[in-house]
Amino acid sequence: GAISITMIDGEGREVTIADASEGESLMEAARRNGVSGIIAECGGACSCATCHVYVDPDWFDVVGEPDEVEEDMLDMVDDIRRPTSRLSCQIALTRALDGLSVEVAPEL
Ligand code: FES
Repeated sequence: GAISITMIDGEGREVTIADASEGESLMEAARRNGVSGIIAECGGACSCATCHVYVDPDWFDVVGEPDEVEEDMLDMVDDIRRPTSRLSCQIALTRALDGLSVEVAPEL
């Protein structure tokens, strides 16, 4: 079944993605739905940080911490980083994330 996600896009609009599926990344679901502010320049290789999102604090424990490689990329956007920052290409969607809420981080 579909996974539903709420995103605040790059222009501050609330967008609902109703058709996300298990196995794709949050970045892929956002791109497919044309969510503004998710550029994903590197195509999901964890090497651009243009897919940066702020996970809703209520959801951060479910989403989990970034791994070391992602942590290094997030260091590059330190000026706008928050405690719940994640790169959306590194968030693999699962049923547990149905209802997830995130905000697109501004461009540096
Ligand atoms: Fe480049 Fe996520 S798409 S780091």
